[in-house]
Amino acid sequence: MKKLWSGRFGKELDESVESFNASISFDCRLYKQDILGSIAHAKMLGVQGIITPEESQAIVEGLSGILLDIESGKVTFSEACEDIHMNIEALLTERIGEAGKKLHTARSRNDQVALDTRMYVKGAVDCLISQLTGLEEQVLDTAEKHLYSIMPGYTHMQAAQPVTLAHHLMAYFEMFKRDISRFGSCKKRTDEMPLGSGALAATTFPIDRAAVAKELGFAALTANSMDAVSDRDFAIEFVFCCALCMMHLSRFCEELVLWSSAEFSFVEMDEGYATGSSMMPQKKNPDVAELVRGKTGRTYGALIALLALMKSLPLCYNKDMQEDKEQLFDAHDTLSSCLHVFTGMLLTLKFNVNAMEKKALSSFSNATDCADYLCKRGVPFRDAHELTGRIVRHCIKAGKALAELSLEEYKGFSPRFDKDIFKALSLKNCIEGRDIPGGPAPSRVREHIQASRKYLASVK
Ligand code: ARG
Repeated sequence: MKKLWSGRFGKELDESVESFNASISFDCRLYKQDILGSIAHAKMLGVQGIITPEESQAIVEGLSGILLDIESGKVTFSEACEDIHMNIEALLTERIGEAGKKLHTARSRNDQVALDTRMYVKGAVDCLISQLTGLEEQVLDTAEKHLYSIMPGYTHMQAAQPVTLAHHLMAYFEMFKRDISRFGSCKKRTDEMPLGSGALAATTFPIDRAAVAKELGFAALTANSMDAVSDRDFAIEFVFCCALCMMHLSRFCEELVLWSSAEFSFVEMDEGYATGSSMMPQKKNPDVAELVRGKTGRTYGALIALLALMKSLPLCYNKDMQEDKEQLFDAHDTLSSCLHVFTGMLLTLKFNVNAMEKKALSSFSNATDCADYLCKRGVPFRDAHELTGRIVRHCIKAGKALAELSLEEYKGFSPRFDKDIFKALSLKNCIEGRDIPGGPAPSRVREHIQASRKYLASVK
């Protein structure tokens, strides 16, 4: 097969280099972006009189036919044509003849691949944001049902203070909300049209870059041709956004793995989202949650691979950059599939609210409330803390929860205790009392959920 650059060469590419050099096995995924970009380019070349209107039309029709044929599975790409750009160009010329050879006027694969990749990232961001809003709706629906479901909140994995399941879930809502916003801002920087940068120094042809940008729905033009062909920041940012979102999913999954253990029994996984063991008949394993947690690592790998890929590249385009795509696609696919199964898992999850509340009581999560009670009656907080610590020790020895001591026992520790201590220790009062913005009081969390529904409607 004759190469597009054969004029300069007297010898064929070594066979081993042909497949080593080729990217078609993975960049074929960019066929649609590549064709749409070429259609916009060809239309512009025609309007600008760089090629004739007839040639422009023949190219546009040829490319549209190729797009249809690829989508109906009629096209097989060839490794000899190296990448998606040259495969499409070769197909075009095969189909329409001479005019096909004019498509690449005033263009290089360097600005072409930058364009395709930016278009891909923009589309990927849209898909992921819509998946994330779907997950967020699920989180809100679940939280709304659990405004009064009391559970211990943890620090150092030790029961700390009572919260509600709704409040706990809304913490994840905030993480995913930041992910949505981060993807959105990544898209803004991706939304610059690089075509016209040529190989590196733009072109002497009187092209109309703005027209191409408009046709392809880009908000702006890249401002420097050398940067435009050598910049992959947008891809790195995108993969970073994926990695960070995976980290959030992974933390959620880690909690679900713990909570589904017999030791916690806070949740029960639906049988559709758990697996059995080949040896131990009693087992029900949270494989989905574990796999999401595990797959987080590969998105970190993709991010580090891209950063390392770019760190020593001189301006402008270098072939190293061909290595960006597999990482980019993999990070996108990984996050997308994880969001999909995670949302289903959450939808079918059963929360054992009784076990949660029991744990909140038996784990002294209301000890701070006991100290605060004394503090509100004039005992300096440090002394109240010390005294409550002694009460807890007493409870541990007696095998009782704080609320199970008698008033006499309390009075034995301090005369400031009165019968309203039991009210102060009731978990319901503990959470209702935390009635400040950002706190777990059900009225506050309800407000948070309402505001969040409005937010979701605004990003949809
Ligand atoms: N397949 C190449 C890539 O993915 C396209 C650009 C090639 N440009 C070049 N001058 N070899 O980066």
